[in-house]
Amino acid sequence: MRNPLPSILVGLALSASPVFASDATLVLHADQPGPVINRNIYGQFSEHLGHCIYGGIWVGPDSPIPNTNGYRNDVIAALKELHVPILRWPGGCFADEYHWKDGIGPREKRPKMINTHWGGVVEDNSFGTHEFLNFCEMLGIEPYVCINVGSGTVQEAMEWVEYMTSNADSPMANLRRANGRDKPWKVHFIAVGNESWGCGGNMRPEYYSDLYRRFNTFIKDYPQRMVGGKVEKNVIKRIAVSGYIDNLAWTDVLMDRVPVKQMDGISLHYYTLPTGDWDNKGPSTQFDESQWFSTLRNTLKMDDMIAANEAIMDKADPDKHVGIAVDEWGTWYDVEPGTNPGFLFQQNTLRDAIVAGLNLHIFQAHADRVMMANIAQLANVLQSMVLTDGNKMCVTPTYWVFDMFKVHQGATSLRVDLLSPDYTYGREHIPAVSASASRDSAGKVHLSLVNTNPNDAVTVACTIDGLKPASVNGQILTAPTMNAHNTFDTPDNVRPGPFDGAKLDGDRLTVTMPSKSVVMLEL
Ligand code: AHR
Repeated sequence: MRNPLPSILVGLALSASPVFASDATLVLHADQPGPVINRNIYGQFSEHLGHCIYGGIWVGPDSPIPNTNGYRNDVIAALKELHVPILRWPGGCFADEYHWKDGIGPREKRPKMINTHWGGVVEDNSFGTHEFLNFCEMLGIEPYVCINVGSGTVQEAMEWVEYMTSNADSPMANLRRANGRDKPWKVHFIAVGNESWGCGGNMRPEYYSDLYRRFNTFIKDYPQRMVGGKVEKNVIKRIAVSGYIDNLAWTDVLMDRVPVKQMDGISLHYYTLPTGDWDNKGPSTQFDESQWFSTLRNTLKMDDMIAANEAIMDKADPDKHVGIAVDEWGTWYDVEPGTNPGFLFQQNTLRDAIVAGLNLHIFQAHADRVMMANIAQLANVLQSMVLTDGNKMCVTPTYWVFDMFKVHQGATSLRVDLLSPDYTYGREHIPAVSASASRDSAGKVHLSLVNTNPNDAVTVACTIDGLKPASVNGQILTAPTMNAHNTFDTPDNVRPGPFDGAKLDGDRLTVTMPSKSVVMLEL
């Protein structure tokens, strides 16, 4: 979809072999490796919001819901399958009102606070630094901690990093030891604030840039242990807040005022709203084709947002030292009727699966800059992986896309040139097909495809350069209706199955995808 070959080049590429009838034409250049797809593109986000943490991940060790040290067993099992690379916490807007010292020590003694952003509920701080970092450690997930810049102090931020990562005989490291954790954790990603242009402090980019420089000075890489006579430090990648959607002026100012060596990434957020109207976003399940179309059309704007920011970054940072962390993305609908509007609970349909596939393809197409992406959010909030209610749990169509696509994590991207027919709705159109390919460390090539058209199947005629595949097999995620979804009573309504629509003939591959489907092929 991005950078399609000029038609003359596609013509040349295909001229050696007979052209066969097809709807879409794809050339997979297995001999043209691109950048490595950072596995952190498959990251997640968990905020103290609604039932993401409480009820979604954490039920406490005394809960009748089966758990391991307070973490739900069913959610642990589901997440293990996804190979979640990185998890952002504690927010979101919540991060800029979170004071970490309230969340350490004996749980019954922790002070309470009001979660002003999300429903005004009482936060009892029973899930804090130890609970988060131990969860990540247990699942082999990189923690990504967002520090409080909006209402916190530099001292607070500095002490938090010391508490989490220092091995010294120092006040914060000793406080951690007194709270039962001897070894420091490894924390390699720190976000310096969240949406500082909005809920994180309503700042101007000039002010934030100076504040970033100040906070960043005191975020230290603490020594952790001796390895072979050398001190091993906890090396932190620092992510600065950048603008929302088309607030390119923010990125401009940030890149101008903060030396590129002082940051490793900038954070961009983009949510897909079916209507584009925050007061009336559109329902999660009761939508028609008009909102199916507008949701997918709006999703594709992610590509424009990344490209526009890249163009600004290329001026100050042509060597691409600073990455893009799309550390909040996903669909945002009207909350489910009858649920707390501050909890952002929404169902998740086949439409969300298509949105996930499109966005992941966009991130992979920008793998030279996109260092991380974190879908919002892990459980029970916005475009979730899992939904829970008491002791019940089900996974969503979006979960299955992350499961099918995990083979792309850390793989080398391969050039794909695609000429797609349009999916037309009314007077507007978007490409019907989206594609991305990679080669993993074992040499396997994976090609993922999305058919956005809810009405028509599409045939993709693929030419494969630089590879003679011996076999092809695959998986497909689709359903009879646009709004098919999983519930606690029918948890398998939408789940992947084997795909038999791919036929291999030498270096030619023909893939017939049903309407509204996501396919993953292994060559
Ligand atoms: O993910 C929900 C909220 O969306 C986050 O708290 C905030 O950063 C964004 O506006």
